[in-house]
Amino acid sequence: MYPIIRNRRLRTSNALRSLVQETTLTVDDFIVPLFVVEGVGIKEEILSMPGQYRMSLDLLEDEIRELTALNLKAVLLFAKTDDAKKDNEGVEAWNPEGLMQRAIKTVKTTNSEMLVLTDVALDPFSIYGHDGIVAGGKVQNDPTVEALCKMSVSHARAGADLVAPSDMMDGRIIEIRKALDAEGFEDVGILSYAAKYASSFYGPFRDALDSAPVDAEDIPEDKKTYQMNPANRIEAVKEALMDQEEGADILMVKPGLPYLDIVREVKNAVQLPVAVYHVSGEYAMLHAAAEKGWIDYEKAYLEQLMCFKRAGADLIATYFAKEAAKYLQGL
Ligand code: PBG
Repeated sequence: MYPIIRNRRLRTSNALRSLVQETTLTVDDFIVPLFVVEGVGIKEEILSMPGQYRMSLDLLEDEIRELTALNLKAVLLFAKTDDAKKDNEGVEAWNPEGLMQRAIKTVKTTNSEMLVLTDVALDPFSIYGHDGIVAGGKVQNDPTVEALCKMSVSHARAGADLVAPSDMMDGRIIEIRKALDAEGFEDVGILSYAAKYASSFYGPFRDALDSAPVDAEDIPEDKKTYQMNPANRIEAVKEALMDQEEGADILMVKPGLPYLDIVREVKNAVQLPVAVYHVSGEYAMLHAAAEKGWIDYEKAYLEQLMCFKRAGADLIATYFAKEAAKYLQGL
């Protein structure tokens, strides 16, 4: 006991502090989310996400070269669909010549070693802004899963390394696994958004893709019948264990910071790598505070990223990936 045991002894110098540091952050921890759009020469900044852009595929090439130079190894692609291509079934989502499919090929031809993860959910393709097919005032589970299977196979065919279903339909992991295997894509992995909450932190992302649920009669006004209730913890473990059982390769918790307890619960319960999604609203909040001069931007985001690791995340999908990669490697 004190004064024999002095906890401050190990905090006396930088060298000693780093010697006993429990958690480290490296460039290998990051997944870089990217937004793509149709067109040429387009790089438009997303208003609520300073420093994040919607890019056309020619400029996506430049971005991939930049990420490669920073030793970043994985991107998570989101495609902004033109309104004219949206419908209720999300048919555009498995168009072999669709924007997403061309984006996958663009990444792979620019750097074949860059890992391509793709968002699998219908919302960017849905006239109603829902992750699934709407009928009778409800988001329909099983028909949506069929659509997600077609979407996943089409991403795999275009060259995706992992598909990332973010829709929260029941049973979609096993069905996607079976669909991929049936087409010979047994090496294409599934990163499941296993515990995805009906969160208010996705607002800027929905601006980026123009994918918010529409306000119309007989259309559910929010995503609460499929995304999880933020009040629940045990349910997240159940979701994660089921997705592990169904054949997921990586499990993700989303959003990030308000859900660090869930990251730890899931990490303790499963035998798979755990990812966390540091979402758009979290990025926007930090930028807003920094703009006002109320917070030290760089220290704050690095601390947040470190805390994800400490909580149990093996991987972090984050809009801060590029900046963090530069900082961590002194570039
Ligand atoms: C779509 C999807 C969303 C995000 C990732 N995939 C939005 C939503 O569920 O409404 C959010 C990511 C972010 O906010 O950064 N299924």
